[in-house]
Amino acid sequence: MSVENIQIGLLGLGTVGRGVYRIITGNADNIKRKVGVGVEIKKILEKDTSKLRDLNIDLGKQTTEIEDIIDDPEIKIVVEVLGGIEPTMNYVTRALEGGKSVVTANKDMIAAHGKQLFALSEANQTDLLFEASVAGGIPIIRPLKQCLAANRITQIIGIINGTTNYMLTKMTEQGSDFEDVLREAQAKGYAEADPTADIEGYDAARKLAILASIAFNSRIVLDDVYVEGITKITSTDIAYAGELNYIVKLLAIAKETGDGIEVRVHPALIPHSHPLAMVNDVYNAIYVTGDAVGDTMFYGRGAGEMPTASAVVADVMDAARNLLHNVPGIISCTCYENKPVKDMGATEVKYYVRLNVTDKPGVLASIAYVFGDKEVSLASVLQKHNDGNNAEIVLVTHKVREKNMQEALETIKQLSSVNAIANIIRVEGE
Ligand code: NAP
Ligand code: HSE
Repeated sequence: MSVENIQIGLLGLGTVGRGVYRIITGNADNIKRKVGVGVEIKKILEKDTSKLRDLNIDLGKQTTEIEDIIDDPEIKIVVEVLGGIEPTMNYVTRALEGGKSVVTANKDMIAAHGKQLFALSEANQTDLLFEASVAGGIPIIRPLKQCLAANRITQIIGIINGTTNYMLTKMTEQGSDFEDVLREAQAKGYAEADPTADIEGYDAARKLAILASIAFNSRIVLDDVYVEGITKITSTDIAYAGELNYIVKLLAIAKETGDGIEVRVHPALIPHSHPLAMVNDVYNAIYVTGDAVGDTMFYGRGAGEMPTASAVVADVMDAARNLLHNVPGIISCTCYENKPVKDMGATEVKYYVRLNVTDKPGVLASIAYVFGDKEVSLASVLQKHNDGNNAEIVLVTHKVREKNMQEALETIKQLSSVNAIANIIRVEGE
């Protein structure tokens, strides 16, 4: 291909779109020298003209008709930063069918429809690049697909939702309650007006589905992921975790085991000494273990205008380079296996359990009996008096099958001396 500049159609000039425009125009010389050809935004699909005015963009570039981009043969790369599933899927599908390369930051679309979109990009020999869809500015898709390609990846443990990491950090540092830190996160613009996807774990689960698919070369979808959010985490649990030398984080965990792939998102206690324990505020990190490389960790900003745009523009540069050398689609979908997903009941983890009990002789023994009966072995026990009659017992188990643990808890709930199972949280990273 021989052109002066490769032309781009930008779908959306919101938070990420603005950053993409700023980098492509601000770093134009560097981009041209690194790629071997310049990249230029020819058209922008955006309804709101003020968004173009704010950046002094020539209003001639604005369009509200997708056809102005999809049907323009000069536009070779479509950058999708609209978000959502429809009409985005429709636009991306048509761009790929028209032979255009697509760069997207859209985890919702890739996690739900990745299989279909990768088949289209392969059939049309185009690039479909999505580095920004997981952990914003942190390089993780390309490292998994390329830099670590020689490895068999055994596990990924990630903190991949900035909002919940900010909330748990503040609860830990300030002893604040969940509702207060949620309001603080919303005021700072980290949590959305409707924070459900973040606090219930679905945002992290979508990102984990994408990571696990690449890591284990087998398609994982959102429904495969066991999801539990952070709404049940209290400052009391965080304080107990601290006493036991742990910190509470929302983890996204993917492991390849002998009996299938484990994919789960849930809060977990991790030891203070674990590298992920140091990841605070809105920062994200992904801890990847490969059979050759050993342990690696990728750390940085998982969201925001410029960090996310940094990943999008790097993808644009790759797509442009591939077009220049007539090799678009050279690195395609790597889900060439079909591995089973492990049943959550068969998962083996350690547990933290907090119980409110009547403080009288034999209570601890009756609880220990039930655990023993279900082959749940206890690693440590803490007991604190609440008042004259009631006490709080905090237990940490050794590794136990999830199914056995749930059965034991069902029986313990029925004991007359147990007033409540106040919380159960898994323990990871040991
Ligand atoms: P955003 O601020 O809401 O921007 C989206 C832009 O697209 C808005 O200007 C919106 O205009 C426009 N738009 C949406 N649908 C349109 C349509 N059908 N026609 C024309 N314009 C349309 O969203 P964002 O935060 O930039 O996120 C974009 C994508 O990046 C999402 O997939 C998101 O998950 C992903 N992402 C974002 C971040 C982040 O930090 N923000 C990080 C990683 C990934 P209106 O406002 O008028 O609808
Ligand atoms: N809502 C996400 C987070 C950012 O809090 O990490 C976009 O993926």
